[in-house]
Amino acid sequence: MKGVILAGGKGSRLYPLTKITNKHLLPIYDQPMIYYPIRALVDAGIRDILIVTGGNYAGDFLQLLGNGRQFGLTSLNYTYQEGEGGIADALSLAEHFADGHKICVILGDNIIEGSIHEAVDEFRKQEAGAKILLKEVHDAERFGVAEIHGGHVVHIEEKPKQPKSNYAVTGIYMYDATVFEKVKTLEPSARGELEITDVNNAYIREGSLTFAFLEGWWTDAGTFDSLLRASNLVSQTAANKA
Ligand code: DAU
Repeated sequence: MKGVILAGGKGSRLYPLTKITNKHLLPIYDQPMIYYPIRALVDAGIRDILIVTGGNYAGDFLQLLGNGRQFGLTSLNYTYQEGEGGIADALSLAEHFADGHKICVILGDNIIEGSIHEAVDEFRKQEAGAKILLKEVHDAERFGVAEIHGGHVVHIEEKPKQPKSNYAVTGIYMYDATVFEKVKTLEPSARGELEITDVNNAYIREGSLTFAFLEGWWTDAGTFDSLLRASNLVSQTAANKA
């Protein structure tokens, strides 16, 4: 399986921190944000990785990461998203890289405590379709929210005012090669973006979306509060291990 990290977007919710750099290069405790999703993929045995970035500071990713030697990789792939057309738009740029293989996609601002190794292994065995990872949260209205019936996710709603459950869809998604055809059928949402939730709902309609619960803590880092929370969680986890 190949890995795709989506690290485009303007990071406007973190302005002015993102006025002179890309959100994913900001620190989470003692390391740049982008290190965490790379580690999550490498830890799951994924070594062929594409980073999709954009904006004015894309060149800084090359300077920071090079060929990924600090992660035990021999090469890293990069591509550039023009504008900020949404998560599914960024994903569409990975079609050539994926080249018919299954992919594990992770949003560049998602930080996890545990491992996705088991879920990735399960998806390697899944014949076709998609797999998402869910986490129970107390602020579900900030995320894509999964409605579960009879052991299946029956619908996902993006940032609902009144969430139908507390199960947030984390920014870790596994897809078969049909994902790119599904992205091509999408229309921009009310916020003018191609939504990853619409991609996942297309798999639900097809009856081919599975899910698992993510172990350990999970946070995004795209707002001041979640950026601080991410640093605190990483530092506490490091202190507990010491
Ligand atoms: O963190 C999980 C949540 O991420 C999910 O629960 C939601 O369903 C999903 O839509 C997403 O919500 P956000 O509104 O928090 O996504 P955000 O716009 O902050 O983008 C998250 C990452 O996706 C960002 O760090 C980089 C990448 N991205 C985003 C956009 C809009 C791109 O690469 N290009 C883009 O155009």
